[in-house]
Amino acid sequence: MTKGKLRLAVFASGSGSNFQAIADAIAAEKLDATIELLVCDKPKAPVVERAHRAGVAVFAFEAKTYPSREAYEREILDALAESRVDVIVLAGYMRILTSTLVEPYYGRMINVHPSLLPAFPGIRAMEQALDAGVKVTGVTVHFVDGGMDTGPIIAQRPVPILEGDTAASLAGRVQLVEHELYPQVIQWIAEGRVRLDGRKVCVLSARPELQ
Ligand code: GAR
Repeated sequence: MTKGKLRLAVFASGSGSNFQAIADAIAAEKLDATIELLVCDKPKAPVVERAHRAGVAVFAFEAKTYPSREAYEREILDALAESRVDVIVLAGYMRILTSTLVEPYYGRMINVHPSLLPAFPGIRAMEQALDAGVKVTGVTVHFVDGGMDTGPIIAQRPVPILEGDTAASLAGRVQLVEHELYPQVIQWIAEGRVRLDGRKVCVLSARPELQ
């Protein structure tokens, strides 16, 4: 990774509240990073407007106009290289990734998922938790590997499920936790404190140069 601020690409498909939380943490100088690029598969998604407001370049595409996943992922790779991106941050990016993207960025691509993985991977994590009747769910930030929400876990935070919760009420509380935790984990990475060792992730308690 390059010295100086961590250069991020955020991948998102929807509202972009996590994109906003990261941009706000940068503006508040709580995060030593820059968002160099938004990659979005829904050109009309609200996150695109958030990127424009934040002055972030956008690579928007429609998957159906490409012959294969690999075809658009190769274009994304070119855009990432052009923007000299250090770390890819998936924030509600609702597309399956192939090895075209995952392999070159393994250990440099993270995702936030709205459950305590390995419970409730994939879509509709809130509904899955409510249907299972669990009393606690939460948020996971993990490195991305070739599976669906299966990569090495960096951090997790619990969120209690309350009597009468709906998917929407639960999602509201889960997202508040995401907006705290995700910028925090990115800052740990910026500080060089996150070490990946096989399936295990170690978060050092101080910057390596201070130890
Ligand atoms: C977030 O809650 C994120 O955890 C979830 O999508 C939401 C995006 O919200 N991701 C997944 O479910 C991935 N499997 P946002 O667009 O407001 O950041």
